[in-house]
Amino acid sequence: MHYRSIFRNDLFSGQTYLVTGGGTGIGRAVAHELASLGAHVVLAARTEENLIKTATEIREAGGAASHVVCNIREEEQVAALFERVLAERGALHGLVNNAGGQFVSPAETISLKGWRAVVETNLTGTFLMCRVAFNRHMEAHGGAIVNMLIEMWRGFPGMAHSAAARAGIENLTKTLAVEWARAGVRVNAVAPGLIASSGLDRYPEAVRPMIEQNVRDIPLKRMGTEAEVSAAIVFLLSPAAAFITGESIRIDGGGSLWRKTWEVAEHGNAPAEYSGYLEEKKLVDS
Ligand code: ADE
Repeated sequence: MHYRSIFRNDLFSGQTYLVTGGGTGIGRAVAHELASLGAHVVLAARTEENLIKTATEIREAGGAASHVVCNIREEEQVAALFERVLAERGALHGLVNNAGGQFVSPAETISLKGWRAVVETNLTGTFLMCRVAFNRHMEAHGGAIVNMLIEMWRGFPGMAHSAAARAGIENLTKTLAVEWARAGVRVNAVAPGLIASSGLDRYPEAVRPMIEQNVRDIPLKRMGTEAEVSAAIVFLLSPAAAFITGESIRIDGGGSLWRKTWEVAEHGNAPAEYSGYLEEKKLVDS
């Protein structure tokens, strides 16, 4: 399972990168790509099975990989993750906060438990990872962080919790970029649109027609690939992006520029028209 990156094959030689959610989907592709460019990659996720699988694939391809089980929502587990990575590797050059998750639901039926789970995993988990990376290593040594958004620029009907959390991550990315510039730490984000990744398979069958409609609404008329997201992440981690911080790159085939994902059925429930001009109002009343 060799990975063909567009970048120079010794780009990250001798360096260590931590990828959360590195066992599957986009995280797996990033792990493969970084390893193919000479990095040692540490994969972290909540469940071990896919971490072992991906780390084994990478080693079989001649790369260097290890894994740590960690729930990014748990402060102590995040602290223990960094203790271990730094004890074993001595340094951390970059962090990819890819782990996250959500489920499809209209906002009005999202339970408090479900809301909290999504916000804590995506937003709080990303914050905890960034904070420990900075405090334990990057403040003294610099580094690069890439966070994961979704294409949520005009809201995200059907995933209110994730879109709110990701909008929070986008703002966090900008804040950290400024606060941590003094230490030579760059913080950026990527915002994938519709990507043909293993994560898509987890959505229920009922959502399939919506996904097909989404593809038709993308100006480039196809889904993106995991490799196309990975390449943007690798670019942001690389010296080619040395002057880029606080930025979010959309990888969406133009989808955020024009989109119709949420059919609003015909209804007569618009609030009554408002006019501040009394005379006009009189006209309407009579
Ligand atoms: N992937 C999805 N949710 C996660 C979590 N809470 N911790 C680590 N990886 C995850």
